[in-house]
Amino acid sequence: MKLIGPFKQLVTLANLPLRGKLSDEQLEVISDGGILIKGGKIQKIGNFNDLKLEHQNIEIENIDGEQVGFPAFVDSHTHICFGGNRANDFAMRNAGKTYLEIAESGGGIWSSVQHTRSASEEELLATLLQRIDFLISLGITTIEVKSGYGLDVDNELKMLRIIKKAQGQTKATLVPTCLSAHLKPKDFKGDNQEYLHYILTDILPIVKQENLAKRVDIFIEKSAFQVEESKLFLLKTKDLGFEITVHADQFTPGSSRVAVEVGAKSADHLEATIDEDIDFIATSNTVATALPGASLGLGEKFTPARKLLDAGAIVAIASDWNPGSAPMGNLITQASILATYEKLTTAEVLAGITFRSAYALGLEERGKLEVGYKADFITFKTSNFQNVLYHQGSLKAENIYIDGSKIM
Ligand code: NIG
Ligand code: FE
Repeated sequence: MKLIGPFKQLVTLANLPLRGKLSDEQLEVISDGGILIKGGKIQKIGNFNDLKLEHQNIEIENIDGEQVGFPAFVDSHTHICFGGNRANDFAMRNAGKTYLEIAESGGGIWSSVQHTRSASEEELLATLLQRIDFLISLGITTIEVKSGYGLDVDNELKMLRIIKKAQGQTKATLVPTCLSAHLKPKDFKGDNQEYLHYILTDILPIVKQENLAKRVDIFIEKSAFQVEESKLFLLKTKDLGFEITVHADQFTPGSSRVAVEVGAKSADHLEATIDEDIDFIATSNTVATALPGASLGLGEKFTPARKLLDAGAIVAIASDWNPGSAPMGNLITQASILATYEKLTTAEVLAGITFRSAYALGLEERGKLEVGYKADFITFKTSNFQNVLYHQGSLKAENIYIDGSKIM
């Protein structure tokens, strides 16, 4: 057992509900706080001096100077295993070129597929680990990582095996997701339905057998997979025992309904969700995940997070870090900016990048500083917790703890 502190403030997020709007008055902020750790879990939280008196002769790990502690953040949607770079797409888009023109000049998802297929395993693993370290430095210790730039048996398995290997080399928790249904690859001989069938028969059984992922994702969009074929595919993946998440309503509405109907853990993007569907999502257990990094990367509107929260949805916020639409990777900056545009409270933003995003990943007892929770927490060198979002990502995390041990 050990006691860590004193923290100028501890923002515990304890007792906040899973769904709906939150006011900052609901935030529990403990002044001069301490965290008692046992076996990688939080044993007790409270005033540092009181805890010290109650537990004499235990190991004490002192926090230097004024620091504020938070539960570590959770990024529930990333595509950080990829080869190459799409800076040219970004420049062309900003110069006014269309999606089609960019794809015709060799850009788009297909270009990342080619770069990922041709990259060596060592190279992919090394760049994936670098991106993981960057996310850890922001205070993120739980990271979802999708495949989806392989798009055939060998290359999808290559990506998922690399993600599994990365898990052996980082203390962060990685949550792999199979996104073979990102796009029908240009070299597949057959239509969309045949490609989805191929994923079901040739890819997912091996994913299952090798325990490479427990989650399946699909990009439902006019330019990718259509609503009906996607629904049938998702129901079949469910029969195979996978959890579901969906890239929904990014440019056109309609697919968030599918996500809810199939019982997806989350429907992500939702920039184009219509008002009628907001209520449909809000009354379900499907988490609505805003991806402000994609709005910023593409110059598109933000997910209607305010409306979703007001309607009672479980709203998470994730980075969508990928080489095409969301190259920034800084979830703290993105979530802070989403807050200014969507008028989100500090409590709503913090909930969206902690326990609500953990819930989207099916992870419990994570993302709050509460008894029994995983002791993943972070500190910022500041005297007031509000400064973290106020500085929009430029205030860097000071210390990162995973399972109660300082790793950075
Ligand atoms: O979440 N929308 C589809 N997929 C990604 C983009 C991937 C890419 O452009 O490489 C997204 O934004
Ligand atoms: Fe995505």
